[in-house]
Amino acid sequence: MKKTIVLALAVVATAFLAPKAIGAEVKENWEKTCQKCHGPDGKGKTKMGEKAGVKDMTEAKWQTDLKDEKAFKAIKEGIKDDEGKIKMKPAEGLSDDDIKALIKHVRTFKS
Ligand code: HEC
Repeated sequence: MKKTIVLALAVVATAFLAPKAIGAEVKENWEKTCQKCHGPDGKGKTKMGEKAGVKDMTEAKWQTDLKDEKAFKAIKEGIKDDEGKIKMKPAEGLSDDDIKALIKHVRTFKS
């Protein structure tokens, strides 16, 4: 009898905890897909970031110059250089809402 109650409580607790907070999910997406180039803080001081030539996302000017629509397109479709070489891959497995959340996250890097 006691076991059943404990089990029921566990199920209820999991149901409440399972849908992760949106903020946590964005962070996870950033860490999994973006951080290797752009760095945890958006400065891009990573090996891959320096090789790819990423810009410092904490710069106020970079932030103002970058419009949300452009950022969205870049994340969704990726970025190629003039010769068609891929600089940033299109985001895989991210919904439009995930991308919008990532742009908001990028905005928090502004210093
Ligand atoms: C392979 C390295 C790499 C990865 C991984 C990467 N980026 Fe980039 N990102 C770049 C480069 C290179 C640029 C272009 C820098 C430049 O010349 O402005 C860039 C530019 C951007 C820009 C600016 C776009 C513009 O039009 O100026 C945004 C926003 C951005 N990245 C977000 C992201 C997000 C979000 C992710 C994860 C989903 C991500 N990046 C993953 C390399 C990367």
